[in-house]
Amino acid sequence: MNIPVRIRGMEFSVPELTLTNDDMAKIVETSDEWIRQRTGIGERHVVSGEEDAVTLGISAAKKLIENTGVDPQTIDMIISATSAPQRPYPSVACEVQNAIGADNASAFDLVAACSGFLYAMQMARANINSGFAKRVLVMASDATSKFLDWTDRSSCVLFGDGAAATIMEVSEDGEDDIVNIHLEADGKCKEFISLNLPNQNCPLAEPHQNPENLHIQMAGKDVYKYVMQKIPAIIKKTLEEANMTIEDIDYFIPHQANLRMIEALTTRIKISPEKVLHNIEKYGNMSATSIPCVISDKIATGELKKPATVLLSAFGAGMTSAGAIIKIR
Ligand SMILES: CC(C)(COP(=O)(O)OP(=O)(O)OC[C@H]1O[C@@H](n2cnc3c(N)ncnc32)[C@H](O)[C@@H]1OP(=O)(O)O)[C@@H](O)C(=O)NCCC(=O)NCCS
Repeated sequence: MNIPVRIRGMEFSVPELTLTNDDMAKIVETSDEWIRQRTGIGERHVVSGEEDAVTLGISAAKKLIENTGVDPQTIDMIISATSAPQRPYPSVACEVQNAIGADNASAFDLVAACSGFLYAMQMARANINSGFAKRVLVMASDATSKFLDWTDRSSCVLFGDGAAATIMEVSEDGEDDIVNIHLEADGKCKEFISLNLPNQNCPLAEPHQNPENLHIQMAGKDVYKYVMQKIPAIIKKTLEEANMTIEDIDYFIPHQANLRMIEALTTRIKISPEKVLHNIEKYGNMSATSIPCVISDKIATGELKKPATVLLSAFGAGMTSAGAIIKIR
């Protein structure tokens, strides 16, 4: 028998520095009008000085610990969905473990780009279901701005930095907050979004050609087409596996990559626009942080009324994609 899961708290943290679309026009040839019309983005937050995915992750985790009252010593696993860390190791999760004093937790990062939070939720769920873990700190943390090509106007205007955190733990009342999670990957689309690291072969080995571009590269139109084809199918499977229909859903929170995509998905899956929650206007695409950020933000503004059955969908580099149905109590 699967041990049921409770979702406890949801917090996010963004860096203080805000870049408006007018600020972006100081960096590349663009305009507030173009960015708003084509993407729905008005502003985004980016790291500054010594901030990075680690400091953002620590800030989100500390907020969560404070607001839930969870004793860090009772956390037995930390998973951080992180695809743009300052350094690949030590992991963001290990840095967070140290910063919050979660001495009894195992800790690791998970790379699934913008689908990362749903992938991490599924890993936490499986560990709780099986009895391997009782309380998991599930996080997303990325400082994508550090890896953007700030001369490429078609990608640098889209992203923002941030981190989010939630606790997933054994549900004491027997109710399961995870109705279903469906994960997929299409490695054949690996070149749609990529980030190269500088590296070298051993001096005695044949040298290799280091990649010229060490920034995030994205084929925007290919991603757009992929998403419009893939995500409605993912949502269909996610609902079917749960024996549910779109009428059973109170809110739909898709990954925040482009408002035009969100609107097209809304029409495609036939959900009422009032049920679709987004905050891309304020934060841009925050990678894996986008979905938990919308949940936390909209609970705080009262636009997400509890209790609710919420449909989530995500896609990201890999390509990875995911659908989930969760209960927010
Ligand atoms: C990137 C994206 C916003 C581009 O929008 P688009 O409507 O497809 O725009 P196009 O690529 O057709 O470009 C149209 C024109 O606008 C220009 N343009 C691109 N970015 C611009 C910007 N920031 N400001 C002004 N003009 C811009 C292009 O150069 C092009 O000019 P041209 O016709 O003279 O060549 C859109 O394709 C998109 O959102 N794709 C999905 C990306 C995504 O989701 N990534 C994250 C995955 S997790």
